[in-house]
Amino acid sequence: MSRSRSVFAWQLMVGLFCVVIWSEEVHPQTLSDGVYAAEQIQPGGELYKKHCISCHDKKYFGPVFKAWSGQPLNNFFLTMATTMPESNPGMLYDEEYADILAYILSLNKYPAGNEKLTADPAKLKAITLSVSAG
Ligand code: HEC
Repeated sequence: MSRSRSVFAWQLMVGLFCVVIWSEEVHPQTLSDGVYAAEQIQPGGELYKKHCISCHDKKYFGPVFKAWSGQPLNNFFLTMATTMPESNPGMLYDEEYADILAYILSLNKYPAGNEKLTADPAKLKAITLSVSAG
């Protein structure tokens, strides 16, 4: 293969790779698609007990998810990460809020999947809140 052809082949591969990454990034999902990992439930639950349960019992988020249905998960995440806990808003790390959110999703019977839920806004924007089947 000539030098220019192999450069071309390389560029093509890089290009295809980017397309794959890109389509994964913006792939639209709902909460029924398994948007968090089961390993987040336990640490998220600990944080929830420490910082949230004094004001929100475990049933609080059922009707809340109904009210937010159709909105991007990013809006919900930002609300909880910037206004909660009410006594000290934003006191936790973003990844701690992500674990808490995963725990809340598990409480509401949304399924776990393979990938961890993170605070990445691009990913959170691609997930739409939906009412759980369970
Ligand atoms: C000191 C009490 C208190 C604590 C602690 C607290 N919250 Fe809140 N939270 C509130 C109040 C009050 C509201 C507003 C209630 C309303 O509008 O129905 C609220 C609202 C929310 C909402 C928005 C609900 C909606 O319907 O829009 C979310 C999400 C939320 N809290 C999550 C959390 C999380 C997660 C934690 C723990 C990190 C937490 N809260 C800790 C008092 C608290």
